[in-house]
Amino acid sequence: MKISDCKINDLPKIQDRRGNLSFLESKNHIPFEIKRVYWIYDVPGGQKRGGHAYKTLNEFIIALSGSFDVILDDGKNKKKFSLNRSYYGLYIPKMIWRHIENFSTNSLCLILASDKYSEKDYLRNYNLFLKSVG
Ligand code: TYD
Repeated sequence: MKISDCKINDLPKIQDRRGNLSFLESKNHIPFEIKRVYWIYDVPGGQKRGGHAYKTLNEFIIALSGSFDVILDDGKNKKKFSLNRSYYGLYIPKMIWRHIENFSTNSLCLILASDKYSEKDYLRNYNLFLKSVG
């Protein structure tokens, strides 16, 4: 996969004087069926998350609250996406190295994933990742 396959997808935003509402549906607003949801929160200042790729997993990341930067790397090119709104998210297909940094205080990073957790699906060694995509 390439950096150009990683995309910001806008989500519906229903504006209302009582407050706004956004939503997403599997295979509609994101191109895969959601099998797992996890979230990252209470990140101490200066900490980074991620630092790996997945062999088969696709993900969609939303900044439900606050802001953070997602740094992507396909082995040839790198790109930074700053996420700071809850009405869009970042689609990241398999075989993209990523880490998340620059978390704001009280940020909430929601991640929708195309499969259940499996440690076997992780590539945690950057040099092995480069060999796999080379
Ligand atoms: P990891 O994916 O390495 O965190 P990061 O978001 O920084 O990449 O996961 C950290 C730990 O949590 C690791 O021991 C595996 C465990 N974990 C689960 O048990 N289930 C999950 O769905 C996830 C994402 C992680």
